[in-house]
Amino acid sequence: MIDIKKIREDFPILNRKVNGHDLVYFDNAATSQTPKQVIDVIVDYYSRFNSNIHRGVHKLSQEATDAYEEARIKIQKHFNVAHPYEIILTAGSTESINIIASGYSNLLNPRDEVIISALEHHSNIVPWQMMCEKTGAKLKVIPMTLEGTLDMRAYESILSSNTKLVFVNHVSNALGTINPIKEIICKAHEQGAHVLIDGAQACPHIKPDLQDLDVDFYVTSAHKLCGPTGIGMLYGKEEFLRALPPYQGGGEMISSVTFEKTTYADLPHKFEAGTPNIAGGIAFGTALDYMNEIGFDAIAAYEAELLEYATNALQKIDGIKIYGESLHKTAVISFNVSNIHPYDLGSILDQMGIAVRTGHHCAQPIMDFFEIPGTVRASFSFYNTFKEIDRMLTGIHKAVKMLQ
Ligand code: ALA
Repeated sequence: MIDIKKIREDFPILNRKVNGHDLVYFDNAATSQTPKQVIDVIVDYYSRFNSNIHRGVHKLSQEATDAYEEARIKIQKHFNVAHPYEIILTAGSTESINIIASGYSNLLNPRDEVIISALEHHSNIVPWQMMCEKTGAKLKVIPMTLEGTLDMRAYESILSSNTKLVFVNHVSNALGTINPIKEIICKAHEQGAHVLIDGAQACPHIKPDLQDLDVDFYVTSAHKLCGPTGIGMLYGKEEFLRALPPYQGGGEMISSVTFEKTTYADLPHKFEAGTPNIAGGIAFGTALDYMNEIGFDAIAAYEAELLEYATNALQKIDGIKIYGESLHKTAVISFNVSNIHPYDLGSILDQMGIAVRTGHHCAQPIMDFFEIPGTVRASFSFYNTFKEIDRMLTGIHKAVKMLQ
């Protein structure tokens, strides 16, 4: 059970006023808010033991290194990963994807095929297009249905022994669709292809068991799940991470350097060149602790109630069209009302203190599929309330009156 009153006390930002109104924050799919437990850890790091990691013999450096590596172990446990060194700490999902795309740019050839889906965020499209341009490999796309789900029959028909890699998001950021990733991974493996799942939008709502999924690579960002920006993870199976070349050269990723030859550090450091976001890594671990304390079952159950309540109420609005009607969805609703431009509706809601995202949500192919310029997207979190949804509904009614 969610103790909503207690939870909201953890988020100082939820007390602020926006344009003279109490903030209603429904842009959680863009970034979640940060509880004081996570803020406190960042302040504590900079106040007490700010120093570089893996480098110094001095006390501060040792404390920082220990805290950073403890966070890696928290992340390993959260995702049920076999070894801590299979967790690479990165700047976020986008960097994680680029590490893999850059690595495979050295391994693919023009006979190879790679598959993405019609539901991808630009960050799970563009790096693969760049990889295909470099290697000559062919990019194929799993089409989507009008409900905003993946056409799994079409997936099977484009999979072949030429398929080397499959890249699909766990949850669509624009529509909230939860994709059948276990089936996607299993079918890809039958053809000998490797799979990367973009979990940026799933991890705030679902606790994935990466060994059970048998996924080859899984990425996510801390800032979607109550952590800070600029930190995220790349999980990779040990054998595949070992086979890939490093992404960036620099300090920390080496074993030895001479002008004649450099040898690389072991995992995970081979992929962690330079000074990382140390406070961010530590806070990522705290954010997972925070969410696990509430419990992902409780979070999912409460958010499902918010989604159902909002969907039922929105459906009663004249002229509304909801995009993304999968039976398996996270608490995201993308919609338009009549011929009102999403930007205009979003701006009026903002005047009432209600934060939603408007536009193409970095998923232009989805908007093209529906032949629309964009949508209004309300994305809920476990700290949102039914009353806040009522405020959004009142706001939409007012906006429609003003704009029609
Ligand atoms: N990918 C983030 C979103 O969906 C930024 O809003």
